[in-house]
Amino acid sequence: MENKKYYITTPIYYPSANFHIGHCYTTVIADSINRYKKKEGYDTFFLTGSDEHGLKIQKKANDAGVTPKEYVDEIIENAKDLWKSLNVEYDRFIRTTDSDHVETVQKIFKKLYDQGDIYKGEYTGLYCTPCESFWTETQLVDGKCPDCGRDVTEVSEEAYFFKLSKYQDRLVEYIETHPEFIQPVSRKNEMLNNFIKPGLEDLCVSRTSFTWGIPVTFDEKHIVYVWIDALSNYISALGYLSQDDSKFKKYWPADLHIVGKEIVRFHTIIWPIMLMALDLPLPHQVFGHGWLIINGGKISKSLGNYRDPREYIEKYGVDAIRYYLLREVPFGSDGQFSEELLISRYNADLANTVGNLVNRTLSMLTKYFDGVINKSEVETEFDKDLINIVTTTKENVRSYMDSLQIPEALDSIFEIFRRSNKYIDETMPWVLAKEENKDKLKTVLYNLLESIRIGAILLSPYLPETSNEILRQINTKETSYEKLDQFGLLETGIHINDFKPIFMRIEVKNESK
Ligand code: ME8
Ligand code: MG
Repeated sequence: MENKKYYITTPIYYPSANFHIGHCYTTVIADSINRYKKKEGYDTFFLTGSDEHGLKIQKKANDAGVTPKEYVDEIIENAKDLWKSLNVEYDRFIRTTDSDHVETVQKIFKKLYDQGDIYKGEYTGLYCTPCESFWTETQLVDGKCPDCGRDVTEVSEEAYFFKLSKYQDRLVEYIETHPEFIQPVSRKNEMLNNFIKPGLEDLCVSRTSFTWGIPVTFDEKHIVYVWIDALSNYISALGYLSQDDSKFKKYWPADLHIVGKEIVRFHTIIWPIMLMALDLPLPHQVFGHGWLIINGGKISKSLGNYRDPREYIEKYGVDAIRYYLLREVPFGSDGQFSEELLISRYNADLANTVGNLVNRTLSMLTKYFDGVINKSEVETEFDKDLINIVTTTKENVRSYMDSLQIPEALDSIFEIFRRSNKYIDETMPWVLAKEENKDKLKTVLYNLLESIRIGAILLSPYLPETSNEILRQINTKETSYEKLDQFGLLETGIHINDFKPIFMRIEVKNESK
């Protein structure tokens, strides 16, 4: 069999404050894609982590009266706990303070220096401290940082530079001949036209004005620019330039870097040029997603719209949150997040569609057949259409997932549940029971349970807890993802397990006044 591998990453997050629902968005999506690829038979590696160096963190730690490492340690513990409560299953949580990462970054910097791609010079520029970004005069918006709108300051220091300019033509050619490299395509055009084609200036890649970073080994008063440090995580995590580079050999190049739209620039200019200079293959794709907007603004503690995502998980359950993040916003666009939207999504899809279907079906099986699943030869005129929809869904999901249309993939699975509810209306099991047409009734209930089984397995990458609970309730051991284009594998003669509604409708109290 062909050896299929899949390497997927999230950005490594700044642990400058506790993580919010926007960070959950990227991470849950990456987790679901990774789980999906695993089901499709890939040997996967899913990387996430934290980006711990830089002036911003040093300042926060100073303000809190602790060392930078102490400051981030607590936030990281919190973050790992958050990922656990969201059922995020990564293969490695890399911290840029991990010693293997530090060593690899130092080796990369030295290698690029030795081969002449990094050289020493003098830097004067406009710097945005919160964003760790240098800007040119023309990039400023009303004299302020174009990303965060805050003031920039003029900084002058002796520094090392990375020859981005040398690689400009190669980068343009690569992007133009690899249309899948930057997605969505609007972001590709933005990068080419607004940033790369106007001309790349060499990048300042070291600092002397603060100390919280990775020292340059051959000139110790310099630390490595935080983006060179951070981007390297995608290969240092696999052991690049270390004694054991077997994971690097197996998984590199990355299949997918998922990043927010504001950092596409770093991932499609600095990062591919670093890789070209290191003579390494480039990642297959960088996908720039949009932002979750709360109360009209990007979520942040400073905007005062921060809530710990665990509050929502405790209140509504982990899969209600995962479902919202995966389903509500077209991947690539900005979208709203609010508790009202979460509740209406939950009620419409999770409670009314899937929850209700499973509960009705198991209740009827209990009432009419003492909870034992059986088949009969008698058919109904509605079976074919149901079976056709159920058995073609796996292929539909695959084509949506191949183009990262995640809400569409989920919606196609929900089509199974919607069609099954309609099948109940069409076949009217309660009438079949009255007429003592029990063989037909057997068929109807079998077909419903088989559709539910297939739908539940298809759901497993997205809503793992719900998937497991449905499969537990119907008491099946037939859980292979591969065979989901076959109808009729559900075992007979089996008694279902105890059950209760998997999603209770949330009644919204009218809090007037
Ligand atoms: O940028 N909605 O870290 P970061 C959606 N350390 N996504 C959001 C969001 C929101 N409201 N808020 C943040 C960094 N994000 C660097 C990355 S990678 C080598 C280094 C996303 O913590 C944001 O778009 O500021 C970004 O992709 C990610 O969270 C990390 O943001
Ligand atoms: Mg950011």
